[in-house]
Amino acid sequence: MKTLEIIGKQELSGVVRIAGAKNSAVALIPAAILADDKVTICNVPEITDTDALCEILEYLGVKVNRASESLVLDPKAIENKEIPEHLSKKLRASYYFMGALLGKYKKVEMCFPGGCSIGARPINLHLKGFESLGAKITQEKDRYCVEAEELKGANIYLDFASVGATINIMLAAVKAKGKTVIDNAAKEPEIVNVATFLNNMGAKITGAGTSTIRIQGVETLSGCFHEVIPDRIEAGTYLIIGALCGKYLKIDNIIPEHLEALISKLVEMGVEVDVRQDYIIVNKQENYKHVSVKTLTYPGFATDLQQPFMVLLTQCTGKSMIEETIYENRFMQVPYLNKMGANIEIKDRKATIQGPTPLMGCEVEATDLRAGASLVAAALAAEGKTTIKNVEHILRGYEQIVEKLTNIGAKIEIKEI
Ligand code: EPZ
Repeated sequence: MKTLEIIGKQELSGVVRIAGAKNSAVALIPAAILADDKVTICNVPEITDTDALCEILEYLGVKVNRASESLVLDPKAIENKEIPEHLSKKLRASYYFMGALLGKYKKVEMCFPGGCSIGARPINLHLKGFESLGAKITQEKDRYCVEAEELKGANIYLDFASVGATINIMLAAVKAKGKTVIDNAAKEPEIVNVATFLNNMGAKITGAGTSTIRIQGVETLSGCFHEVIPDRIEAGTYLIIGALCGKYLKIDNIIPEHLEALISKLVEMGVEVDVRQDYIIVNKQENYKHVSVKTLTYPGFATDLQQPFMVLLTQCTGKSMIEETIYENRFMQVPYLNKMGANIEIKDRKATIQGPTPLMGCEVEATDLRAGASLVAAALAAEGKTTIKNVEHILRGYEQIVEKLTNIGAKIEIKEI
């Protein structure tokens, strides 16, 4: 098990360069198998989630060449084999192979373990989309077989604007016969990034980024070149760290429009932010005002930033509120933040944060990716040393986090115990 040791209260300044978006890359990598020829994807974050997906590609016979942040994928020798559980269970995004293999071969067999610590996370909307396109689904426990004689375009309404279901249905529909319309589609920027990738291959997708996406099926998809958009969640996490302990900290290589909800909350509470075309400079202030936040689908306040943002609220004067509307169990950082000195109460999906409370370093544990990120933020702001256990969760989604924080003045060490 890996642990992080952090000595808090260091003033952080300099430049953090944001990597490619995890939640885009984990869809682009499975989507690449839809091409009949080589694809190159650049700005791919070097995180364990992308490594796990490349392992599945190689299992399927795809040639994978990684050169720093570029991936060259050659699917010409691919075989449609059942994806075993030991590969698919490493991350939930393995479910994008369902849409990609169904879209390419009209058949996919894979084990997909449901749920994770932040919630039940069913895939009923993904499966409803596949059935609408003409697929038959057989499921024995965690093993799914999805098969279609023919995939035909359909009108699909999503009961919830699910990111995963929107992308998975796009992957299954790009080569279906005729036109597919996805209504109440998710509008996250990562969906636009995936739709652009598919269009670069020759797909015919319009409306990505709006709540109605139209897909005209095509016969073939060629190789192409594509770039992953910057990670708005990594960027938001470092913005929050800058608001906690930054001195003119520059968060570089970002798309500020993707962070509007967070930026407006930071300004509302009194954080000094200088927003430029592709970077933001953040400068810690004293006496932050309390604010209330409700997580929503994009462009609302991102649920993935709720957990790090909660740390900042512990330093605001007064009673702040967070309502988590997307997941049923996304407050697992709270007991550890309270152990560090925070004053947070939970009732159902609402958290009340009374501040400001000084944070003291101690031993804590990462329970999930973004809870882990919140503990890193808290440790950087705390007095003394914090040891964070199970940091494998954090390494799934934050590229070179130890190097990036060390480069801006943090006292942080990763240890294997
Ligand atoms: C994506 O998950 C992200 N993961 C999540 O980021 C992110 O929190 C989430 O979108 C919301 O923005 C990736 O992109 C790999 P959803 P996804 O389908 O696609 C319910 C992180 O920290 N739902 O929009 O799984 C579901 O239970 C991760 O980087 C159904 O009920 O999110 C949840 O309550 C965590 N049925 C809500 O929708 C379905 O078929 C949001 O799910 C699908 C989803």
